[in-house]
Amino acid sequence: MSKNRVQIFDTTLRDGEQVPGCKLNTEQKLVIAKRLDILGVDVIEAGFPISSPGDFISVVEISKIVENATVCGLTRANKKDIEVAAEALKLAKRPRIHTGIGTSDSHILYKFNSTQDKIIERAIQAVAYAKTFVEDVEFYAEDAGRTDNEFLAKVCEEAIKAGATVLNIPDTTGYCLPDEYGAKIKYLKENVKGVHNVTLSCHCHNDLGLATANAIAGVQNGARQIECTINGIGERAGNTSLEEVVMILKQHPYLNLDTGINTKLLYSTSQLVQQSMGMVVQPNKAIVGENAFAHSSGIHQDGVIKNRETYEIINPADVGVTQSSIVLTARSGRAALAYRAKNVGYDLTKIELDDIYPQFLQFADHHKEVNDEDIHHLMELNQIAKSSVHV
Ligand code: KIV
Ligand code: ZN
Repeated sequence: MSKNRVQIFDTTLRDGEQVPGCKLNTEQKLVIAKRLDILGVDVIEAGFPISSPGDFISVVEISKIVENATVCGLTRANKKDIEVAAEALKLAKRPRIHTGIGTSDSHILYKFNSTQDKIIERAIQAVAYAKTFVEDVEFYAEDAGRTDNEFLAKVCEEAIKAGATVLNIPDTTGYCLPDEYGAKIKYLKENVKGVHNVTLSCHCHNDLGLATANAIAGVQNGARQIECTINGIGERAGNTSLEEVVMILKQHPYLNLDTGINTKLLYSTSQLVQQSMGMVVQPNKAIVGENAFAHSSGIHQDGVIKNRETYEIINPADVGVTQSSIVLTARSGRAALAYRAKNVGYDLTKIELDDIYPQFLQFADHHKEVNDEDIHHLMELNQIAKSSVHV
């Protein structure tokens, strides 16, 4: 694997599915897992096998059908969780156990009523036990975002010694600033013995809207795996959005970091997850929102009609959106009206356009959007024939 390749670890079916009301049945999870495999993700976190019989069965079934990606199951740092995950992953071509424990003061003190030394001991035991079942063991230091870097480095070093292949550094509460999260990854790169033999992973939550920025800061500082979900779904305000990090790396080639994702499948994958989970993304969602490639103001429409790149940094075809849309509203200009009229068969002369434009504005002022049917109606009222040839 090239040192500039960033692994995409998709957790839509685990962290994503923790969203209230987004529960999926096994059939739905299988459809999504198959699609993620085709999309080109490197790892599919299929579930938390001990959490319920349904989750266990889903991980078993996903393990059977995934062809290319590593299939991963989450555990806490205890034997029973690890045994159940190992059992669920038995039929996976490339199984990974994802085990770990909270490392911040508040987790150690309030969640575990424990001490730093005891937490390190549990981390070592969990990784070593998972290693007796599978070769590929990822260790997570929950709440690493608020964990003191020196202690975090110590935990990471011990996890590597116990056999971890990947170290996950979660900003569990979405608290870090990008500079801070990037510096944490850099610190671990520089201070953990053995870190060059393992992959550092970014797992960021979006409580302050920084999940994507933090993951990018992480890979700029040496992490080589991003944990993310389709549409950024996940606990509370969600996780890093897969489509955003993938397109950021693609659109900024000078970063010299790439992924194995077939970006042309991003839009349809987003639609699949929205429909299966019944969770529609907001229209202005980057990359996959309904307005991501829609232009409605006259100035922008004129620019895009002349040259798409004036107001678009992504070619919609690259993410599987057929084309940019020119939305007709009361803010649209003549260029947009002529463009949309032409799309439905009317090649307007300048005189016709000047005549119709004020009528169009009057109509648009009373409607949110002017659609193709409205355009036909406007043309009929003005007795303009379809595909007329004008000199
Ligand atoms: O956010 C988090 O810390 C997690 C871990 C369980 C990996 O999801
Ligand atoms: Zn998480």
